[in-house]
Amino acid sequence: MNKGYFITLEGPDGSGKSTQLEHLANWLAQRGYEVVRTREPGGSEAAERLRDLVLDPQLTMDERTETLLYLAARADHLAKVVRPALAAGQVVLCDRFSDSTLVYQGFVRGLQLTELMQLNAFATGGLEPDLTLLLDGDPERLAARREERGVTDRFENEGLAFQIKVRQGFLELAKANTQRIRVIDAMQQQEAVSADLVKELEALLKS
Ligand code: TMP
Repeated sequence: MNKGYFITLEGPDGSGKSTQLEHLANWLAQRGYEVVRTREPGGSEAAERLRDLVLDPQLTMDERTETLLYLAARADHLAKVVRPALAAGQVVLCDRFSDSTLVYQGFVRGLQLTELMQLNAFATGGLEPDLTLLLDGDPERLAARREERGVTDRFENEGLAFQIKVRQGFLELAKANTQRIRVIDAMQQQEAVSADLVKELEALLKS
């Protein structure tokens, strides 16, 4: 049986993760891989309910409450969806994962990274992605894109200073994890972004 692969896409809101994830899923399927497309927070029944809760714009939550909900969702998602798929030799493509917790709850909301890493390890049982593709782009131009799309949620409403911190957080993580995280320029034409992502995927599948 093939070895399963766990691949995550990270990046700020509006960086094109969903579109690119779909493209990568099709690319893999055309080459005979069994692909599972999923996302965090969410991806399993309980985790999708936790997603509704944690992203509810009517609710305000302190950063610890929010963190524990993301992690509870992650633990269920891994147990129900990700681990079984990897055990069956499938390729799991996941929109966001542990790096998002370090960036949003750590770099941005100010919780300690060392504590968050321990909590992440507890929620995941130590499972890490084989490859993380980080879609990086200028926050102002990404904000303009979001406006064009008319998308709003709690995080997307936080403004430019927030998005600049998000970008810096992701780039710091990429610098500290060069083996796992690949930075892709999300401001290129969609096709060029896809081509860069596929190149990274090919390298992983050959390795
Ligand atoms: P999405 O819009 O990409 O689906 O993600 C929902 C929001 O959740 C996004 O703004 C980032 C945030 N988030 C965290 O703050 N911590 C996490 O651990 C995850 C997975 C997402």
